[in-house]
Amino acid sequence: ASDKRESLLIITNWAAKFFRESLWDTEDGQAIGLSYFRERGYRDDIIKKFELGYSPEAWAALYEEAVKGGFSEEFLDETGLIIRRDDGKRYDRFRGRVMFPIHNLTGRVLGFGGRTLKTDKKTPKYVNSPESLIYHKSDVLYGLYFAKKAITDQDNCFLVEGYADVISMHQAGVENVVASSGTSLTTGQIRLISRFTRNVTILYDGDAAGIKASLRGMDMLLEEGMNVKVLLFPDGDDPDSFAMKHGAMQFKQYIAENSKDFIFYKTDILLKDAGNDPVKRAGVIHDVVDSIALIPDDIKASVFIRECSRLLDIEERLLIAELNKQKLQAI
Ligand code: CTP
Ligand code: MN
Ligand code: MN
Ligand code: MN
Ligand code: MN
Repeated sequence: ASDKRESLLIITNWAAKFFRESLWDTEDGQAIGLSYFRERGYRDDIIKKFELGYSPEAWAALYEEAVKGGFSEEFLDETGLIIRRDDGKRYDRFRGRVMFPIHNLTGRVLGFGGRTLKTDKKTPKYVNSPESLIYHKSDVLYGLYFAKKAITDQDNCFLVEGYADVISMHQAGVENVVASSGTSLTTGQIRLISRFTRNVTILYDGDAAGIKASLRGMDMLLEEGMNVKVLLFPDGDDPDSFAMKHGAMQFKQYIAENSKDFIFYKTDILLKDAGNDPVKRAGVIHDVVDSIALIPDDIKASVFIRECSRLLDIEERLLIAELNKQKLQAI
């Protein structure tokens, strides 16, 4: 089985090279792919660092090249790079897309995200490699290979939604960043981060989906014993668009000034909805205590209970009673 894993890895890494060469060395790649990245504002050194690529429009450009290279069709199918139709015909999964290779911790390519250049609503914006022997989406964080040293040095990890966010932040000089790639954060991904730091700052998109995902991700991180801060971008912005609009200096200043400890973030968001309605305010208190109850370290939890008592103007002993009730329920 490990021989087979190695064979699949050889294919995906060969494919990354194919996409890269097609970006830099072909007419279409330059005219379509490279100009797309440059128009987004990516510098050439960043495009190279992340090994970005372009998959040609043709139905089977990669497939035909791979067969010429002598790769097994069965293994090609298993990488998900090739799709085999019911009638046996094979074609490329990624066509006419710019390619983001997804690396493991040692820098080998496990799979890809491919972004369309079309702007219509019906083409899916991203197509990703399917699950395979080598690619388990829930155990991979995009960008970790490029971020791990900075995460250790800074003892903090920024968590973003997308490929473009990771790349733009590197370009802005912030390298301790990984992406959960749109899916909701998993325990496996959190354990990967915890090998390098216990401190995570969530930087999700400033839209309703981003807020919802940040609250869920926050609870998962707390449950794994991580220290969590959250920052929300203005509605309609994500880290990439914000950094490109305002530049590296302002971007760094914005995150330094607006990152909030999870409890302030959650309280702020929920209180905005509750207004002065006493029943809703009681609901907010319950919700905040629910998050605190997930923290495995009792001392840390008690510090946040005190903070919560101050923030929401409610007696600490009531909060402690509620916390203990939650903890008993969780057993
Ligand atoms: N995503 C996906 N499939 C989609 C949409 C999104 O896999 N159809 C994942 C991608 O990993 C993407 C992330 O979710 O990077 C965040 O989605 P979104 O915010 O919509 O995309 P951006 O990363 O902002 O992409 P871009 O800036 O290129 O529009
Ligand atoms: Mn989004
Ligand atoms: Mn986004
Ligand atoms: Mn974006
Ligand atoms: Mn409750």
